[in-house]
Amino acid sequence: MAPTLQTTVTGIKFENPYLLGSGPPGTNAKVIAKSFDLGWGGVVGKTISLDASKVVNTAPRYGKLKDREKTDVVIGFENIELISDRPYATWLDEFRQLKKQYKNHVLIASVMEEYRKEAWQTIIREVQETGVDGFELNLSCPHGLPERKMGMAMGEDPSICEEVVGWVKEVSKIPVWAKMTPNVGDPKVPAKAALKSGADGISTINTILSVIGVDLRTLRPMPTVEGHAVPGGYSGQAVRPIALRHVMEIARAVPGVAISGMGGIETGYDAAQFVALGAHTVQVCTGAMLQGYECIAKLKDELLKVLADHKFERLEDLRGKALPYFTTHFDLVERQRAAKAAKTGANRDAETWKGEIKSETDSLTATK
Ligand SMILES: Cc1cc2nc3c(=O)[nH]c(=O)nc-3n(C[C@H](O)[C@H](O)[C@H](O)COP(=O)(O)O)c2cc1C
Repeated sequence: MAPTLQTTVTGIKFENPYLLGSGPPGTNAKVIAKSFDLGWGGVVGKTISLDASKVVNTAPRYGKLKDREKTDVVIGFENIELISDRPYATWLDEFRQLKKQYKNHVLIASVMEEYRKEAWQTIIREVQETGVDGFELNLSCPHGLPERKMGMAMGEDPSICEEVVGWVKEVSKIPVWAKMTPNVGDPKVPAKAALKSGADGISTINTILSVIGVDLRTLRPMPTVEGHAVPGGYSGQAVRPIALRHVMEIARAVPGVAISGMGGIETGYDAAQFVALGAHTVQVCTGAMLQGYECIAKLKDELLKVLADHKFERLEDLRGKALPYFTTHFDLVERQRAAKAAKTGANRDAETWKGEIKSETDSLTATK
């Protein structure tokens, strides 16, 4: 049977596991509709909050790390972009329209609020009335918002994660994914805190705090706004190994947890690695910004090819397949020692065997 990419995660049915990650690719209804038409399995909208007037962006707000030789290739991408600065009421209208027009396409609303129960519960109640399929709680934006005690300021504190997810779960009637920050020592701790309060899934990773570079002519850090800068969030292919590790750690710590994995996915082969480490869905943000929304066709073909190569019929057959092979350093040393001993033993056996043959041949020759 030809493999399928269809999958059901936290009760939501996806045509394929690819979602556009929260950010510029899902910044308004027009581009979200375009993504649905092109075949994305779902879209996580740009993060919204109740009062967009508090959100003021800067220009420039992006910085790129390029390959030293192929200077048109972007290896890493830094942004100091905030959450959406479009009015909340506009977003509610657009969510309503989209769900009327695209009943069978998955729309996840990404939300963030200040550290107040009433604010979180208001946004959840009002947004779920629009008919969106699920929530992603942005507990992880690393720049700008933490100055208002939002985003990563919540996600790096396990007790706040637990509390905020608890407030949301009291009123949410649809699945809730908590989006975690990689800017912590042990990603298992805040993820477990979110799950303890009933989060239905974990999205990871958001961007990694970074400084993209220093302009050596002016000696100013970049991206430079009126001569000054702040550390931003790093994404794109350079972060993929870190993202894979975060997904792996959480998948191993909480077997079966619904993870939406992201960070540097640009091909179906990248996505397959996230699935092999336990991801149920995958998200693409920077990859779509760099390659265009049309890359979804190639992403799906490549993931299907991985399934077919292994004779897997469904994503579930691939999911978590690489996890049992993580162990401790001590165990690696033991395995290496045992393998070496077995090899030496095998060599010794082969030598003995060769010797026996030789002496038998010699004696046969002698009796002739
Ligand atoms: C320009 C830009 C804006 C982003 N804005 C948001 C956002 O509003 N909310 C959010 O949860 N993540 C946001 N992200 C983070 C992405 O959703 C994603 O977690 C991260 O970039 C890693 O995935 P990627 O390498 O595929 O981009 C943004 C990323 C970029 C590059």
